[in-house]
Amino acid sequence: MSSCGMNAATTMLLALVPAGGHLVTTTDCYRRTRQFIQTVLPKMGITATVIEPSDLAGLKAALDAHDCALFFSESPTNPYLRCVDIPAIKALCAPKGCVVCIDSTFATPINQKPLSLGADLVLHSATKYMAGHNDVLCGALAGGAELVQAVRSMHNVLGGVIDPHASYLLLRGLKTLELRVHHSNQSALRLARALEGHPKIARVHYPGLESHPDHAIATAQMAAFGGVVSFEVDGDLWTTAKFIDAVRLPYIAPSLGGVESLIEQPTIVSYWDQPAETRAKLGIKDNLVRFSCGIEGFDDIWADFEQALAQI
Ligand SMILES: Cc1ncc(COP(=O)(O)O)c(C=O)c1O
Repeated sequence: MSSCGMNAATTMLLALVPAGGHLVTTTDCYRRTRQFIQTVLPKMGITATVIEPSDLAGLKAALDAHDCALFFSESPTNPYLRCVDIPAIKALCAPKGCVVCIDSTFATPINQKPLSLGADLVLHSATKYMAGHNDVLCGALAGGAELVQAVRSMHNVLGGVIDPHASYLLLRGLKTLELRVHHSNQSALRLARALEGHPKIARVHYPGLESHPDHAIATAQMAAFGGVVSFEVDGDLWTTAKFIDAVRLPYIAPSLGGVESLIEQPTIVSYWDQPAETRAKLGIKDNLVRFSCGIEGFDDIWADFEQALAQI
């Protein structure tokens, strides 16, 4: 356990990739993880190949070209909910001695078990579903004893220890993890389907939908598809902002996975300080919305969406 998901990720990266080493990661991911890989790790001479989540040929090429210490990806990713094929990635990485670590925050241990699928390590921002109440920061990493011990040794050096109160809140949250996740899974699937049929929605990104590029992978390796739905409003930045201002039930906030539904427009929340060219390069569209289903009744969530969509 550690003080937050970022602490778990940065400690794992520093522990497992040697100075001058190489890692492979994927395009769609939490902004701060990308920032750490691209701006901090290079100070230790560490380089990275960034592949599109389904690009197994790109992974193979990187493994052939470099002595790769680590493959690290979210699955599903943030915010487009792309899913990587964990067994296929393991099959390519294992012969090369490349450790596979999956950030399974969006899936939760209820919906996906990366270690059973072949990953060497699984990482969680426990801030999200595991604690589940939008009121604490914590992180988790699990896997084989040798790898976890290597990360623990680095953790002892860097700090980032979870404090007793956060531990208490996490333990308390875990008691209802399964109930909360099942509820959010169901709401998210219903929401994704309803949005996909709505004339004011241009596109829905949810791995449970047949239209999602990784639907087959998600179906094979996940028990359910999670509580987050990303979608594009049929309109520009301002139409989208108007929709977000019009919903009444969710809080506007950049987190996810708690009992209260949260909504955000990545362009003006998570990426508010990034110029348009950078956002375009990262695929962050102005009309993109990320919605995290809480445990409210689905009918209330949908009634709220309908009245807000009627206003734009
Ligand atoms: C997929 C993923 N991993 C890691 C993190 C970082 O977690 P924390 O906020 O607990 O530091 C986040 C945060 O949003 C995330 O979405």
